[in-house]
Amino acid sequence: MDQAVQVELVERLLAHVEHHSTDLEEPSQRSVSAYIDPERFERERRLFTSGPMALGHASMLASPGDFLNLDGVRPLLLVRQDDGSVRGMLNVCRHRGTPVEHEPRGHRARFTCPYHGWSYRLDGTLAGIPHRRGFPGVQEDTHSLQPVAVEQTAGLLWAGGDPRMGALTDELRGFGLHDGVLFGERARDYALNWKLVFDIFLEAYHVRVAHARTIAPMFLDNVYLVDPYPPHLRNVFPKRTIVELAGRPREHWRLREHANVLYVLFPNTLVLIQPDHSAVLHVVPLAVDRTRLLSYAVIPEAPCGDKARGHWDANMRILYSAVDEDFALGEGIHRNLASGANETLTFGAYEHALTRFHAQVDAAIA
Ligand code: FES
Ligand SMILES: [Fe+2]
Repeated sequence: MDQAVQVELVERLLAHVEHHSTDLEEPSQRSVSAYIDPERFERERRLFTSGPMALGHASMLASPGDFLNLDGVRPLLLVRQDDGSVRGMLNVCRHRGTPVEHEPRGHRARFTCPYHGWSYRLDGTLAGIPHRRGFPGVQEDTHSLQPVAVEQTAGLLWAGGDPRMGALTDELRGFGLHDGVLFGERARDYALNWKLVFDIFLEAYHVRVAHARTIAPMFLDNVYLVDPYPPHLRNVFPKRTIVELAGRPREHWRLREHANVLYVLFPNTLVLIQPDHSAVLHVVPLAVDRTRLLSYAVIPEAPCGDKARGHWDANMRILYSAVDEDFALGEGIHRNLASGANETLTFGAYEHALTRFHAQVDAAIA
């Protein structure tokens, strides 16, 4: 992040501290049906099947032949090519539709279907058919794996085309997101609508109460900044130590040392910038009431020794205990949505990033 941007954001935060304020917008209402209506969910799913959506980190595919097998919204294989690029294809055999790859991650020279043994090259092209005589019309150009556009932007793997990141690509590069190793990967399924994950993360109002026993003592109560980069968003959650910057020269102001910066990379990814690493959460909607969360930290280098490992283990424990607190609340909300108690949920003047996120979803499925 440019120093000028860091200074601007810190100045805004210090002004909020001085005036006991935060970024505010008009309150809004969100219909409960947006979270539980199966017909609406089908329209939202198309966001994820047509993309773009981030699904992993570039380092997951370190060498040619490394693959990532992602089910969930649609069966996707992402494969590192010999020329260093990444290709995407549907993990669906063109003979009779079997998944050609069953391992979630790994390395192959070719993909061979476990049913009748049709094989495909790393780029998805049809390579071989046992007893080929029986399939006179089947050719490489008619029966290769169906391609899916894949991009590598800001260190993340995106399926479905250009993520329209604009200035955020350089901002995330500046935070080193493209250039680290993964630590503490976790995959969990939760009984809630996927949009509740964003509702949970996109405000500072809950921190003092919901995270009283974990992270709340570190953060200023109910202060945050929200800046839209449509369709994405940047939020800044200041720590109490931010006030120390007021007396220091601006060229030494380092935002990430005194605030968490949280990016929403629309439609499904959260990137949380912390002082010495980042955490990434990919949200995968499985059903209207079921959501998978793929999460990991991107740390500067592989930990060597028990001390370094202990440091990163402690970091992940803090992150995941806050996430577990949030998701327990989110699942409780989802169970209650159909109770009839609320026809709408209320997003207060402090919770306007939720309003913006839902508006983006509405626009994207319109
Ligand atoms: S379904 Fe894949 S080889 Fe037959
Ligand atoms: Fe939270």
